[in-house]
Amino acid sequence: MQSLQKCLSLEADTKCLVIEPTYAVPDLLDDVRMGLLETPRSLPPKYFYDEHGSQLFDQICDTAEYYPTRVEDALLKRYANNIITEASPSHIIELGSGSSRKTRRLFDACTDLSHHCSYAPFDVCEPMLELAARELDVRYDWLDITPMLGDYHAGLNQLPVDIGTNLFLFLGSTIGNFTPDEARSFIQDLHHRMPEGDYFLIGVDRVKDTEVLNAAYNDSKGLTAEFNMNVLRVLNREVGSNFDLNKFQHRAFFNAAQGRIEMHLLSLEAQTVKLSALQTSFDLEQGESILTEISHKFQHDEIESLLLDCGFEIVRHYEADNQYFSLLLVRANQLIQTGLSRQSA
Ligand code: AVJ
Repeated sequence: MQSLQKCLSLEADTKCLVIEPTYAVPDLLDDVRMGLLETPRSLPPKYFYDEHGSQLFDQICDTAEYYPTRVEDALLKRYANNIITEASPSHIIELGSGSSRKTRRLFDACTDLSHHCSYAPFDVCEPMLELAARELDVRYDWLDITPMLGDYHAGLNQLPVDIGTNLFLFLGSTIGNFTPDEARSFIQDLHHRMPEGDYFLIGVDRVKDTEVLNAAYNDSKGLTAEFNMNVLRVLNREVGSNFDLNKFQHRAFFNAAQGRIEMHLLSLEAQTVKLSALQTSFDLEQGESILTEISHKFQHDEIESLLLDCGFEIVRHYEADNQYFSLLLVRANQLIQTGLSRQSA
């Protein structure tokens, strides 16, 4: 993997298919201007994932406290044959594919069932995409892989359209990073892009015991704290800021009213932080915090309603036995609009 800069800028010399955004995607400086120079202060979570941050995230996934990755992987393993049989996809398109590790469960099922299809991993990080594609190519000789580089939301309508059923994947409860409005518009936009009969598989983390949730974001090895703090290192490097990491503290808790984990960086004293690339600085009070991530947790019916409202039909709702995590396999239907009746195929 390479630097964040490399991951966030679309390079021309790529073996990936470059998917152009259909609207302006804010860059780091825009996000810093909008997030840090306004109160309440916030930063988008995508800047956690430079090389060090990505490694920390992988380590978080291996901690005893952080259950989502393990539980989702177990669900995929258990239901992969069922998912492939049900959707029978000609093409699998993964939004925010990262390392594509969990997706192997589906390819294993394809191998098992002698069901061959193509795979288009779509991600903003080119080195990750290329590494993932190379590894999959070795493992699955039947798999036809086309890595696609770009912003998976802004690029949705630019995806090449092919004949056959598509199965879109959006795993890891990444949807939780969106506010409810953002989540709804993302799922609507995706539905809009999908021909009737296409499938969508989404993984979502569920509301559960507060202690379990809080522990998942406050692991005893301090890796989540380190991951949260890392965004300040990223900013120091990329926008020439002078955040002193000793003057901040990791804070993560379940906000029950909003149904979400919030991660903050708490300012331990009144301080002024320089932002060289913006030729400005800003003040933080003692106890003021920067919101660095929200991770929405869904109720069983909440995620179903959201998908139904956006025009999907629920095909299967797979749940972990402890109900910690859900995988939903849904199918795109024609949206029924006022004054119009549904067309039969
Ligand atoms: C990758 C966004 C699903 O919200 O749980 C893990 C990121 N943050 N620990 C999550 C994360 C802190 C993770 N997602």
